[in-house]
Amino acid sequence: RASLHYQLLAPLCRRPCPSDLCDELALVDVIEDKLKGEMMDLQHGSLFLKTHKIVADKDYSVTANSRIVVVTAGVRQQEGESRLNLVQRNVNIFKHIIPQIVKYSPNCTLVVVSNPVDVLTYVTWKLSGLPKHRVIGSGTNLDSARFRYIMAEKLGIHATSFNGYILGEHGDSSVPVWSGANVAGVSLQKLNPAIGTDQDSENWKDAHKMVVDSAYEVIKLKGYTNWAIGLSVADLTESLVRNLSRVHPVSTMVKGMYGINDEVYLSLPCVLNSSGVASVVNMTLTDQEVAQLKKSADTLWSIQKDLKDL
Ligand SMILES: NC(=O)c1ccc[n+]([C@@H]2O[C@H](COP(=O)([O-])OP(=O)(O)OC[C@H]3O[C@@H](n4cnc5c(N)ncnc54)[C@H](O)[C@@H]3O)[C@@H](O)[C@H]2O)c1
Repeated sequence: RASLHYQLLAPLCRRPCPSDLCDELALVDVIEDKLKGEMMDLQHGSLFLKTHKIVADKDYSVTANSRIVVVTAGVRQQEGESRLNLVQRNVNIFKHIIPQIVKYSPNCTLVVVSNPVDVLTYVTWKLSGLPKHRVIGSGTNLDSARFRYIMAEKLGIHATSFNGYILGEHGDSSVPVWSGANVAGVSLQKLNPAIGTDQDSENWKDAHKMVVDSAYEVIKLKGYTNWAIGLSVADLTESLVRNLSRVHPVSTMVKGMYGINDEVYLSLPCVLNSSGVASVVNMTLTDQEVAQLKKSADTLWSIQKDLKDL
């Protein structure tokens, strides 16, 4: 029997729960009433779940022996606030929680969701002392899902049938890989060489802009995002728990790839299985895409280099 705990520190009942992915679920938060409320609300759904044990406590011992720990603790963006602006507030929170998690679950794989996710995944890697393949950021998994939905809508097909990645930073400097976008192997760039550029009369670039603006728009409308991020993290968890070796664009340590020399985490297509990141796919990118990726890395490093006490 697998012993699996999650740590969804954000309001979990507002996030879709992977109903049959774990046999045990442990929640941690600092607000005790809210934590108890979330636990009870989830327990009342037990009839519809295959998670036989749902526990919660502000003490991290409740998470002992977790296989996967999902970290969503922290402050979230205010309307109009960039993800990077959140950094120092969330670093301080992570200094408290990451050592506790690792103390009780030294063999876990950590999935970081809190923003700015790439910087906080790096911070988690440093604070945890875990090998890099066991510290993963949800990264552009969500951006890519938004991209696939938006592109598929425009093309009149289902999101699973449009193949395309957004790589780099989860956020404003993310990189749409137009050179790899395809439907059933048919390259969109071969059909429209200007795709994604300012010269494109069909203005496909707008789809990427919509992705970048997505979170801001949803936050403006309802105050937070939860469904798509919850579903996308459940999908990552499934690959990790079931040892599926599926490829997901997630945040990983990229030093040494594409000419990036700094220790930064950003998203590349990664093979995820029970060991965490089993390998990183060395995707063929255009010079311009590599330049954009490096710019993403520079943006992140410019913030990371000033972080203290890691
Ligand atoms: N990566 C993504 O794609 C993505 C998507 C959505 C949200 N997020 C991020 O996830 C984070 C959470 O978002 P939210 O909307 O759930 O926010 P929220 O404010 O609703 O929840 C955050 C929770 O963290 C808890 N918390 C704060 N300090 C803590 C500590 N020291 N220990 C334990 N728990 C603590 C709070 O009590 C709160 O319940 C934010 O950083 C947000 O930007 C990321």
